[in-house]
Amino acid sequence: MNRLFIFDTTLRDGEQVPGCQLNTVEKIQVAKALEELGVDVIEAGFPVSSPGDFNSVVEISKAVTWPTICALTRAVEKDIDAAAEALKFAKRGRIHTGIGTSDPHIQYKFNSNREEIIERAIAATKYAKKYVEDVEFYCEDAGRTENEYLARVVEAVIKAGATVVNIPDTTGYCLPDDYGAKIRYLMEHVPNVHRAILSTHCHNDLGMATANTVQGVLNGARQVEVTINGIGERAGNTSLEEIAMIFKSHKEKEIRTHINTTKIYGISRMVSSLMNMPVQPNKAVVGRNAFAHSSGIHQDGVLKNRESYEIMDPKDIGIDDNAIVLTARSGRAALKHRLQILGVEMEQEKLDKVYQEFLKLADRKKDINDDDVLMLVGKDRTDMHRIKLEHLQVTSGIGLQSMASVCLNMAGVRRCEAAAGNGPVDAGIKAVKKAISNSDMTIQEFLIQAISKGSDDTGKVHMQVEYKGNVYYGFSANTDIIAASVEAFVDAINKFII
Ligand code: KIV
Ligand code: ZN
Repeated sequence: MNRLFIFDTTLRDGEQVPGCQLNTVEKIQVAKALEELGVDVIEAGFPVSSPGDFNSVVEISKAVTWPTICALTRAVEKDIDAAAEALKFAKRGRIHTGIGTSDPHIQYKFNSNREEIIERAIAATKYAKKYVEDVEFYCEDAGRTENEYLARVVEAVIKAGATVVNIPDTTGYCLPDDYGAKIRYLMEHVPNVHRAILSTHCHNDLGMATANTVQGVLNGARQVEVTINGIGERAGNTSLEEIAMIFKSHKEKEIRTHINTTKIYGISRMVSSLMNMPVQPNKAVVGRNAFAHSSGIHQDGVLKNRESYEIMDPKDIGIDDNAIVLTARSGRAALKHRLQILGVEMEQEKLDKVYQEFLKLADRKKDINDDDVLMLVGKDRTDMHRIKLEHLQVTSGIGLQSMASVCLNMAGVRRCEAAAGNGPVDAGIKAVKKAISNSDMTIQEFLIQAISKGSDDTGKVHMQVEYKGNVYYGFSANTDIIAASVEAFVDAINKFII
C-alpha cells in the first residue's frame, strides 16, 4: 500500500476567495475539524500578507497538535522570516516557498530568465531551511512549464534541501494525461527525486482538478493539495472529499490516506456555513443530491439493495440516516449532539446562547436542519458591528407602493428613517441609506438562497456592495428574506462605514 499525504489549503487558497474570509476564531474551528478529519498538513495562511493571516498561523499552531502547520511565502527573505516567526508555536512547522517557473511568469512577472529563477529558488529554499527542517517548494504555473526546465528546478531545490516539491497547475490548464505525464517525467528524470515527495496542486478552471490530481498520484505524486468542498480561487481547487472517496472506493489502486471519511459531511457543512459558500446540490460526495435517487427505477433498486445504484455508503462520509430531527421540543443535549456530528464543540455558555436562538427559530420553523444549526452558531458574528439594524417594518403588495421604516443603532445613537421603493427590499435599503446619510454605494450582486425547502425555511442572502471603487461582502440568514436582505446590506456597510 502507498501512503498518500493530504495537504489541506482551505484556510489559505480557499480563503482567498472574495467573501470567504474567516476570523481567527473561525479558522481555529476549521483547523481543529481538519485535525479530527485526519489531514497530514494544514496550510494555515500567508503570514507576510496581513497581520490577520500572521495571527491565524500563530493561533492555529497553538491549537492543533498532530498535523504539520504550513505557512506560505514568496521566494523573498522577509516573507520567509515572517513565516518562521508565525510558526514558532507549531509542533511540526513547514515553510512553503516558491516562485513562478513558466515562461510567462519568468518574462512578465519577474522580467527575468530561467537561470536567475533557479538561483532564486535555491536561495529561498536554503534560507527557509535555516529555520525549519521541513521546506516545501512550489514551482508556480508548473502546469505550463516546459518539463525539461521544470526537472532542473526540481532537482536544484531538492539538492538545496526541499523535502516536498509542489507542481501546481496554477491556471487549471492541464489535461489529465498531460499532468500525469508531467509527474511521471519528473519521477523518471530528476536524479534525486527519491529524496523528496512530489505534490499535486490543481485548480479547477476546466473542471479537471480532481482528474488531474488522480493522474498525478497514479504517476508517482504522494502528496495532494486540496480544499474542503473544492473551495478556492476562481473555479476552485481539487476537493478533499472527492480524492479521499476515490481512493477509498478504488482499493485496487492501493493508495491509502489517513482521512476518517465519516467526518467529511460535518466539515463540509461547517466550511460551507462559515464561509457563506453554498455547496452545489449535485456536487460529488457532499452535494445535497449526491445520494438522492429520484427516478422510480433507481429508488426501487436502492431499496432492494443499496449497491445496485450506490457506489458509496452515505454512512462512510458521515451522513446519518437515523439522525434525530431537531424541533422546538429538542433539548440542549440533542442540539449538542448534532453540533458534535457537524464538528462543532462549544463551551456551555455559548451552547446556552445558541440554544436560546435555536428555540426562537424552532418557533418559526418546524424542522431545524444542519444548515440552520450552523447558521445559529455563527449568529454572534454581528455582535461587533458598529451599525446594527434594530427595527425594520415594511408594507408591500400588489397595487401598493412599498414602504419601509428602519431604526439603526449607530455606535449607541438610534436613527430612524422611512423610504419608498420599487419593492420592500429596495425600500428597506433606501431607508438604511437615509439613516446613515450616505447613498454612494451600489449593490453589485444580490443572491437569495433558500437553504432547503418549505415556505418556513431560512433564506440566506449574499450581497456585494460597491463603495468608492472597492467591493464589500455582506451576508445574513433569516426566515424573513426581506429582513435577511436588509441585514446583509447592513453587514456589508459595517465593513466600510467607520
Ligand atoms: O496555485 C498555485 O500555484 C498556488 C501556489 C501559491 C502554491 O496556490
Ligand atoms: Zn493554488
